[in-house]
Amino acid sequence: MAADTFAFRGTFFHTPAYGQLEALRDAVVVIQDGKIARLGTSGDEAALMREFGLSEVRRLKEGQYFVPGFIDTHVHAPQYKFTGTGTDIALMDWLKKYTFPAEGSFRDLDAAHHRYALLVKRFLANGTTTAMYYGSLHLEPNLILVDTIERLGQRAVVGKVNMDRHSPDDYVEATSDGIRDAEEFIKYTQGKKCTRIEPCITPRFIPTCTPELMKGLASLAQKYGTHIQSHISECCGEVNCVREMHPEYASDAAVFEEMGMLTSKTVMAHGTLLSDDDIKHLASRGTAVSHCPLSNFFLGDAFFKVNHALSLGLKVGLGTDVAGGIQPSMLSAQRMAVVNSRCLRAHKLAVSGGTIVTPEMEKDVITFKEALWLATVGGAQALNMEDRVGTFAVGKEFDALLVDTSLGGTAGPFDVFEGEDDLQRFEKFINLGDDRNLLEVYVQGKCVKRGDSFELEAAILK
Ligand code: GUN
Ligand code: FE
Repeated sequence: MAADTFAFRGTFFHTPAYGQLEALRDAVVVIQDGKIARLGTSGDEAALMREFGLSEVRRLKEGQYFVPGFIDTHVHAPQYKFTGTGTDIALMDWLKKYTFPAEGSFRDLDAAHHRYALLVKRFLANGTTTAMYYGSLHLEPNLILVDTIERLGQRAVVGKVNMDRHSPDDYVEATSDGIRDAEEFIKYTQGKKCTRIEPCITPRFIPTCTPELMKGLASLAQKYGTHIQSHISECCGEVNCVREMHPEYASDAAVFEEMGMLTSKTVMAHGTLLSDDDIKHLASRGTAVSHCPLSNFFLGDAFFKVNHALSLGLKVGLGTDVAGGIQPSMLSAQRMAVVNSRCLRAHKLAVSGGTIVTPEMEKDVITFKEALWLATVGGAQALNMEDRVGTFAVGKEFDALLVDTSLGGTAGPFDVFEGEDDLQRFEKFINLGDDRNLLEVYVQGKCVKRGDSFELEAAILK
């Protein structure tokens, strides 16, 4: 038996279609070279063991399930430092008061090493197997971020932040320096030939980027075939600022279009104030939106309408937006996406002034099943990784979480009540669970976290 071939038998939950939670019960899953080689039933076990020369198939215990690893499509890596604080002011002031100083402090490379290890470990522990990260302005700390992700085994898309105007004097770059450093960053990341890590072009947002910078960055994205990420139509302060700066364009989407930023590898965060025409435009380009519900409650001014956006053909993933979002957890993001949708319904009822809930109000509501799809398949689509991750299917890479619902969660132990089935236990995990319920975390078929140990790092340290 090849050392990198192994198999599990048990229940695998995933969402092959929006809103459809499928339980593959008593399934036998064979993983070879990081990918799912076979997906069989218990009746296939003996044949699969022979075919792959397996001496054992590991059986999951009662209350244990696999779920695809979570995909966070919007995280600011250096902002993890102040997650959970700085919650008192609106976006444009928040950036000046908390964000830019915190990001600038990553010039201290020893601190960057330490903090980025804490960040990546925290996200892995919370089940984020893939993250789309913003780094900071300066080149070197971004290289440390990439090294840290490589060492700890996470899958990621990472960008060096670019900003060449309307920024503090000590946290800004000259346009040509920014383009040069972005190219250096791409070469460094692609040069690693690590199939888990891809570079990303990252103009922070329209107010801090000149058209010259954005156009130069768009050329780099095209030359190197990279992802692009930025913020779009996030809140009134930002949108009004862009209208003043670019009165010739009707919307953020129109500015980004002109700069060559809307591609099928672009993820735009927030989009709470996108018009239907903007959404259709983004959809026509294959551009995705990262829905960051918790951050939108703090820094946004409106609700992102997930079902409406999907109905217009937009790709939608889910993001924590740490630290605008105050929880570094995609379980939290899923819950917040559900709450956001219910707030939208309540808002429409309030505006109606009546007590009749119409089908129109109801159609924005999502459940934990849609939220899980957003956190897995939606994210994979946004990052153009749908053929690699997001569900359990033959040929996909094995990015997965081994969940144990018999362990403690935020609501105390997961007490089992008579008649409770595995669907109910799984729903409890999505709604109440946390890192304590994640026994093992797999990326590309490698266990990167088991109990308290980060396995790839532990192997290097040995
Ligand atoms: N817009 C520009 N920069 C940021 C940021 O760091 N966080 C959020 N939420 N919005 C932004
Ligand atoms: Fe953000």
